[in-house]
Amino acid sequence: MSQLHCGDALDVLPTLETESVGLVVTSPPYNIGKSYESRTPLAHYVEFQQNIIRECHRALRPDGAMCWQVGNYVHAGEVVPIDSIIIPIFRELGMKIRNRIIWTFGHGLHCQNRLSGRHETIIWATKSENYTFDLDPIRVPQKYPQKRHYKGPRKGELSGNPKGKNPGDVWSDISNVKHNHPEKLDHPCQFPEALIDRLVLSLTKPGAHVLDPFAGSGTVGAVCNRLGRSSILVEREENYVKLAAGRLRMGLQSS
Ligand SMILES: C[S@@+](CC[C@H](N)C(=O)[O-])C[C@H]1O[C@@H](n2cnc3c(N)ncnc32)[C@H](O)[C@@H]1O
Repeated sequence: MSQLHCGDALDVLPTLETESVGLVVTSPPYNIGKSYESRTPLAHYVEFQQNIIRECHRALRPDGAMCWQVGNYVHAGEVVPIDSIIIPIFRELGMKIRNRIIWTFGHGLHCQNRLSGRHETIIWATKSENYTFDLDPIRVPQKYPQKRHYKGPRKGELSGNPKGKNPGDVWSDISNVKHNHPEKLDHPCQFPEALIDRLVLSLTKPGAHVLDPFAGSGTVGAVCNRLGRSSILVEREENYVKLAAGRLRMGLQSS
């Protein structure tokens, strides 16, 4: 089940029930002048992010988590990694950072005056020590699945977990959604579904409520429908809300 709200996250988030959401996963505007945002001074942008994160924190269950997927704010040639802004906001709220995941991809703009950016980060933080984390659904194949203990009491037994290994905190196996990507819709910054699959599968149980306050084309909703979680999506631009609504309808028809 998906709830899709057309409106400003600052107006919609206060209407959500306190401690009702298991996971917040989102990619906010980066304040870099994309078609859906207007640039504001950095201090205003930080205050905006603070207000959104405080409301998400209120709506989050005590055992819940937030994942903020971000790149860089760039102004006059200076790069400000947005996670350096988000981490202090999470920590001021008493949240614990569990991972800073590096998502690296092969394609993007070619820079002339610095190295071309080929990664973004996902900051995963939990509201308390008691949080959901299930590694098994996101294990990846072992590099050497036949490797065995060569000494000791377990000599001869397989040394790795037969279910696969921990994917680690550098994700290089998920391509970004550029023009020829099979999931590409009419949105400039779409999440690949595989990125959200990994977060939803490991950080929530079936039936959990997942919130995306900057929903764009509705990727989080599409993934939640497929994986048996419910989603609460907020998007300000009416054309993207229509896009997300169509995507959610299509997903439900094909499932
Ligand atoms: C980086 S994009 C998210 C894309 C999304 N992850 C997807 O897979 O399509 C950020 C989105 O936030 C929306 N947005 C920006 N400011 C907003 C606000 N104050 N409230 C709600 N949505 C907002 C933009 O219109 C844009 O679609």
